This record gives sequence, structure tokens and C-alpha cells, in this order.
Amino acid sequence: MKTLLEQPGFLAPSGTIGADISYLLALVFTILFLMAWRMAKKGQGTRHHKLILVSMVAMIVYFVAYYYARSLGVLSFEGREGFGGPDEIYDNVFVPVLTIHLILVTLGMILAFYMIPQGFRASEKKGEDYRLKSGDLKMQPRTFKIVMLTIFSCWAVVQILLLITRPSPFGASVAYGLIFATVALVASLEKLIEKFLPDGSRRHRILGRTTMVIYALILVTSTATYLMLYFIYPIKH
Ligand code: HEM
Repeated sequence: MKTLLEQPGFLAPSGTIGADISYLLALVFTILFLMAWRMAKKGQGTRHHKLILVSMVAMIVYFVAYYYARSLGVLSFEGREGFGGPDEIYDNVFVPVLTIHLILVTLGMILAFYMIPQGFRASEKKGEDYRLKSGDLKMQPRTFKIVMLTIFSCWAVVQILLLITRPSPFGASVAYGLIFATVALVASLEKLIEKFLPDGSRRHRILGRTTMVIYALILVTSTATYLMLYFIYPIKH
């Protein structure tokens, strides 16, 4: 598998199969999300939500596989090691583009996790089709407490498992602590969001469009990174 992914790619003169496959998959997921946006624009609520769910699951599977493959050192590292261009371009173009890309990916993930339950809460089923319902959408204080308690319990279970299974659990504990803290922070932002965008359907449209624009920008930044690494400034062997 490792050697297969390191074979010369088919898209760029100096890319690898691994880099090409991961770029093509990123392209497919973004196109699926943008198609889901078009469906929503045409008022096809049910098709929209089905395509969002399918592409979301596919994207998570891909991320896990990609992380697994990269941590095994299969794909070329998108750092100085893989960049063959001049230092000024590396510092002033490559690093900023890659940093923006990583920030957008994180934001896009957080927003998607927020938007999926929000989509169900903000809509109702009319016959066969989902429709957004207008009117204030507020989380009940009881539901809010249950959400927070669930996040806390999951963190506690993970922490206990780490303590039992790892000889030195400090690094992993900090990483998981930060992940759960982010989830709790996003959940508590709901109260603030309710204040500024009380209408559930308006909230879904505004935050949904923001999410879709972020996905489109993720595609732009990943294309730029791919082009710089494998077309414009490949490493010379
Ligand atoms: C990542 C998750 C999601 C994103 C980014 C998203 C994005 C959007 C956007 C941008 C629109 C408005 C289209 C426009 O006017 O420009 C929309 C409408 C809508 N969304 Fe979502 N959505 C998501 C998940 C969901 C889910 C899970 C449901 C579940 C039922 C849902 C149901 C709807 C419905 C019913 C509409 C209205 C369609 C119409 O105008 O009749 N969405 N969504």
C-alpha cells in the first residue's frame, strides 16, 4: 500500500498517487457540498439533507484514512520537505496559504457539526419534503444541560480510558481535553447565536451559506497548495 501510494501520480508531473487521490477526493467532496447547496436553493429540502449527510460521512471516513496514511509517512509532508521553491515564496505565499487552509478546514468542520443538528431542528416534514420553518428557534435550558452533561461524560470516559491504557497519557489528555473544550464552546455559542439570529430558518440560511463559502475557499486553498507542491515548485531530485 505504502509503495503504491508513493508511485508517480497521474495529475501532475511530480506528484504521487497518494497526493493525487487525496486531492481528487477533496475535489469530489466539495463538489457534492456545492451540489447540496444548489438543491437547497431550488427548494429541494429532502435531497439537500440526504446529500449533505452522505458527503459528510464520506468526508469523515476520508479524513480518518488520510490521517492514518499520513501518520504512517505515506504521503509527502506538506512542509519544507516537499517544497522546492525559493525561501521568500515559501515564507510569504506557501505558509500563509497552508495556514489559511488549515484554519478554514477547522472552521468548516466545526460549522458542519453545528449545521447538521440545526438543519433538523429548524425544519419540519411537510408530506415527503423537509421545509425550513420560520419562527424563533431556542434550545430549552433542560436540553442545553443534557448536551453539556453528555459532552462532559464523554470527555470523562475518554480520560479514564487514557489513564488505564497509556503508559504516559499527558500529551493525549491535553489533545482530547482541547477537542472536548472546543465542542463545549461551540455548544455554548448557541446561546449567543440565538440572540443574534433568533429565527431558525434565517439562521440556517445565513450560517449555511457561510459554511458553503468556506468549503469553496477550502477547495481554492487546497488547489493552490497542490499546484505549488507538484506543478510549480516541486522538489528536484
Ligand atoms: C453541513 C450542513 C448543512 C449546510 C452547510 C446547509 C446549508 C444550507 C443552505 C446554504 C441553505 C439555503 C440555500 C440558499 O437559499 O442559498 C439551506 C437550506 C435548507 N436546508 Fe440546509 N444545510 C445543512 C444541513 C441541513 C440538514 C441536516 C437539513 C435537514 C433537514 C437541512 C435542511 C434544509 C432545508 C429544508 C432548507 C430549505 C430549502 C428550501 O428553501 O426549501 N439542511 N441549507
